[in-house]
Amino acid sequence: MSKIGGIVSKTTKATLLFLWGRSLRLATEPPFRLFVKGIIKAFPTSIRTKANWDAVDRPHYLVGVLGAADEAAREEISEISVIEFGVAGGNGLLALEKYAAAVEGETGVRIAVYGFDNGGGLPKLLADHRDHPDQWRAGDFPMDEKLLRKRLSTRTTLLIGDVKETVPKFVQQTQSPPVGFVAVDLDLYSSTKDALQIFLLSGKRMLRRVVMYFDDVHLFYNHRFAGELLAIEEFNGSNDQVKIDHWRGISNSRVFPESFWVQNMYVAHDIESITKVNLNRPARNRGTLLSS
Ligand SMILES: C[S@@+](CC[C@H](N)C(=O)[O-])C[C@H]1O[C@@H](n2cnc3c(N)ncnc32)[C@H](O)[C@@H]1O
Repeated sequence: MSKIGGIVSKTTKATLLFLWGRSLRLATEPPFRLFVKGIIKAFPTSIRTKANWDAVDRPHYLVGVLGAADEAAREEISEISVIEFGVAGGNGLLALEKYAAAVEGETGVRIAVYGFDNGGGLPKLLADHRDHPDQWRAGDFPMDEKLLRKRLSTRTTLLIGDVKETVPKFVQQTQSPPVGFVAVDLDLYSSTKDALQIFLLSGKRMLRRVVMYFDDVHLFYNHRFAGELLAIEEFNGSNDQVKIDHWRGISNSRVFPESFWVQNMYVAHDIESITKVNLNRPARNRGTLLSS
């Protein structure tokens, strides 16, 4: 190739690369992003791409499972548990199971799925405002256990009973891998409070950072003196081992940072275990000073 030919081909390559970068950027901006999301949803793409684009029915579950697998990889843990507290008909658990299989395929981290529910719908509410008697009544959201069990794969274990009893049994009597993601959808303050004991009971197994999704924290009737928000506040006040806080920075790199569920994502930080970490790597360097 002549010298001039070489220069032209290099310029064309650089221009094409520039245009490709610009198109990718444009794709994530309104009004194009809704169109691109439709394409990503309809066509086979990596599960990470689908998660970034909210291109599944329950992005909060997929982002939770993926976040858990990534954290497991950082901690060099090869197998985790993901949990749904409050299963009802089972649509959430089936979605969780599907995403777990896809994330396992993409990351290589093995994922066991657990669903906790008493099977008969909401239990008896407390006698005051904390369980939101203005929203819920005992018996809401019963499960067709037989039908659901038929549809679940061997990846998933359904634990039937009140979480007050099934959570201690799960922690103390099963050999489940460390918890990486928890979706909390028990509706009641009292039930949520009991479920959160999964992080405090002796024998607990959890990643240093567990991704969490709380279903009932973003609506007009929610406040921090009842429901899940009160359960989180009391949990944090009751112990120094694990603290639950918003997932900071989650919206930074999302295509749809305004999606409702983004504000429902939390992280349970295992303060006790983080305290014991001793980084075994060379000191970081922020670069040398630029000459003046
Ligand atoms: C809103 S539904 C769950 C819906 C489900 N996550 C979904 O997305 O399809 C709430 C469920 O929590 C369960 N639940 C509430 N308190 C419970 C408790 N103390 N123990 C076990 N299950 C409980 C109820 O049986 C009910 O099925």
